[in-house]
Amino acid sequence: MAVVKANAYGHGALETSRALVQQGVTRLAVFSTEEGVELRQGDIAVPIVVLGPIFREQIGDLLAHRLTPVVSDLSMLAALADAARPRSVPYPVHLKVETGMGRLGLTQEELETLLGSQTFSPSLQFEGFMSHLADSDGVLPDATEEQLVRFNRACKVVVDGGHRVPLVHLANSCGAVRFPSTHFSLVRPGIMLYGYHTLPSAVESPELRPVLSLKTCIAQLRTIHPGDTVSYNRTFTATRPTRLAVLPIGYADGLNRRLSNCGMVLIRGHRVPIVGRVCMDMVMVDVTTVPDAVVGDEVVLIGRQGSEQITAQDIGEWTGTISYEVLCAISPKIPRRYHS
Ligand SMILES: Cc1ncc(COP(=O)(O)O)c(C=O)c1O
Repeated sequence: MAVVKANAYGHGALETSRALVQQGVTRLAVFSTEEGVELRQGDIAVPIVVLGPIFREQIGDLLAHRLTPVVSDLSMLAALADAARPRSVPYPVHLKVETGMGRLGLTQEELETLLGSQTFSPSLQFEGFMSHLADSDGVLPDATEEQLVRFNRACKVVVDGGHRVPLVHLANSCGAVRFPSTHFSLVRPGIMLYGYHTLPSAVESPELRPVLSLKTCIAQLRTIHPGDTVSYNRTFTATRPTRLAVLPIGYADGLNRRLSNCGMVLIRGHRVPIVGRVCMDMVMVDVTTVPDAVVGDEVVLIGRQGSEQITAQDIGEWTGTISYEVLCAISPKIPRRYHS
């Protein structure tokens, strides 16, 4: 089950989903009902699981678009059962149990009450049972092993209640790679589909290639003099004659403002530094070392140029975050171009 929430981690939900389905992925996961509806409106036909919380006012859309809810609270299960009653076939739902993430999910006690003393509503099909790993990329395996014990205990409650659940799932990308015992019948990779991982260095990582490049071009070039300053609050002062390139991309496009005076970009195969504050929709770089740079030159913010590469992981390290956030932050308004 490929995870395409958050605009497929910034890659474009619809095109990414189409590509994944074409490559044989048979089930997708999104965060919200709205994300699921967007995929249905783009003619994605495979089952779509909504991982995030469902609100009552969304149940109509959810059912109308054949989206599979993950249920983490008992009142929502009852509301779904009511809404599904007029249907001729039971409506598939997945139940989530909380095993250590401290986020969504039924408690073990709620699960026992639900599955021990009540029959599952006949208007619903108990299609999936899941939990989520909190530390599959942690240095030590202990927390994941503990979650696995709790999840197996919860699975026993399901089986003892007489339920045959076809889809049991626990693993995210790092879980899938590092802990085979978390595989069950389905895994939920997200970040690794896009070519990144957060495995600790002691764990061998699969060979991954970042899928996405982020590019812009030089909009203007100018030379400034020693003592001249660049951008808001004048945080950069030239100490030599400096050739500046103005790039039409800024924090409104997802270029983190923490890259001010610290990030790098690639121009003509060279790494050049961001100087001054990143603005809302522009940023300046020092191209003194690239004298042949001209207006219109391609600028790579994420990706390869010549023998150089900048990854979302690099930007995460420069800005104190993770590749996930760097990718998700790329504004949907930036045009995506897809190459097969
Ligand atoms: C419930 C759930 N499953 C799977 C994933 C995919 O995780 P990853 O991107 O680490 O593979 C996520 C992502 O946050 C998630 O929330």
